Amino acid sequence: MSTSAELKKSDNLFIHPWDDIVKIGGHERTLLDRGEGVYVYDSEGNRLLDAPAGMWCVNIGHGREEMAQAVYDQIMALTYVSPWSMTTGPAAEFAAQIAEQSPGDLNHVFFTTGGSTAVDSALRFVQFYNNIRGLPNKKHIIAQKKGYHGSTYLCGSVSGKARDKSHLDFETRWVHHIESPHPLHRPAGQSDAEFLDACVANLENMIDQVGPENCAVFVAEPIQASGGVIVPPDGYHKRCLEVCRRHDMLYLSDEVVTAFGRLGHCFASQDVFGITPDIITTAKGLTSGYIPMGAFLVSDRLIQEVKERGGDSAVFSNGFTYSGHPVAAAAGIKNLEIIQREKLFEQARETGPYLQQQMQSLRDISIVSDVRGMGLMACVECELEQGSDDLEMDLEIGKRIDRHCQAMGLIVRPIINMCVMSPPLTITRSQIDEMVAILRKGIIAAMQEVSDQRAGNESLAQRHSSPAA
Ligand SMILES: Cc1ncc(COP(=O)(O)O)c(C=O)c1O
Repeated sequence: MSTSAELKKSDNLFIHPWDDIVKIGGHERTLLDRGEGVYVYDSEGNRLLDAPAGMWCVNIGHGREEMAQAVYDQIMALTYVSPWSMTTGPAAEFAAQIAEQSPGDLNHVFFTTGGSTAVDSALRFVQFYNNIRGLPNKKHIIAQKKGYHGSTYLCGSVSGKARDKSHLDFETRWVHHIESPHPLHRPAGQSDAEFLDACVANLENMIDQVGPENCAVFVAEPIQASGGVIVPPDGYHKRCLEVCRRHDMLYLSDEVVTAFGRLGHCFASQDVFGITPDIITTAKGLTSGYIPMGAFLVSDRLIQEVKERGGDSAVFSNGFTYSGHPVAAAAGIKNLEIIQREKLFEQARETGPYLQQQMQSLRDISIVSDVRGMGLMACVECELEQGSDDLEMDLEIGKRIDRHCQAMGLIVRPIINMCVMSPPLTITRSQIDEMVAILRKGIIAAMQEVSDQRAGNESLAQRHSSPAA
């Protein structure tokens, strides 16, 4: 058995997502050993409240024995078969269960290995669909700035987070981004209704610019998650869906984060935002992160159209060795069983508003520039200088808050200067209190530290500039 110190050293051979390659060899990441409920424990035995639920994924909480048993049972029964030519009970059963939970006629399920492959596969399905319809030019994808849709070449291109666009290449011929419908960016004096109109006009204008005959799909998260929990104005998704319908465009709702309970429902598109999109992508909460899996759901309408127009055969040549993996599907079935038995969607509908209310109490801290969210997704944004867009400064404050909170028992995992809370659905009110109390102390400690350091630098500068005595 390697010691913690040896493991931390070996970890420098593991290139992590979004790793700073220049700094490889010098990274020191917290080594986590185990988890239980909403808590995880590091290699020194410290207990940490897992506010991001891993990465918006451990919806049923950590360390569920019955989940381990379900996974074990499936491995012992049958580990794997090729999904090309065979199927398994868990994959077929899980597809039927998802279809039962999904809105409208989104009854067909394409299983993938995670969220990126779900979005990528869904976008390839859109291209396939239009090719079958004899509309090969209808390929352009309209997405949103600040959106995140994953890390394959196509998903990375469709993602619209400006700060992720350095040093890599992207598909630009077919991908267009409109402004994020971020209420913080509403110009002064504009009413809610005018702001909504302006956000929808951004989509219409982009369609006009690209040409409706070329536009295939609009891609949007119900709430932009990694973009910083951006809740669009009321009615935004409905209006955008109407625009899509008018221009024969599909609507892809990326529910990789929002599905499976984060907003108190299995899928948020219909139950929270009142739309039935053409395609929904999901991952993360689908198995609560116990085993990697993703999926896209597609409407009967689209499948029927392909059947009618596909002639003798229309092969969708897209898929993965692990599509519908029986062990992942068994985890998915158990996950849904636990959620339903423990009424976790209902619990999230009750604790979500409480989380939002408690988070709002942080507004009195001077560096807090915004607090926003919905359900069990919340974000507190901090700025050392209000209105500044200085990346270094934003990274600095985020890192300091993270360090202080972790020392006090809370994982924050800030997205730059945005502390995003998306705890397991099992979180209780008293655990929410604990989370928000530590967050408050962590933000204040980070703010104090920066101010002390600045004061120190100033007096040092004064000493250097004053003539020698
Ligand atoms: C909305 C959304 N879509 C897609 C993805 C990509 O999922 P994965 O990291 O499982 O590939 C993410 C990941 O955070 C996401 O938040």
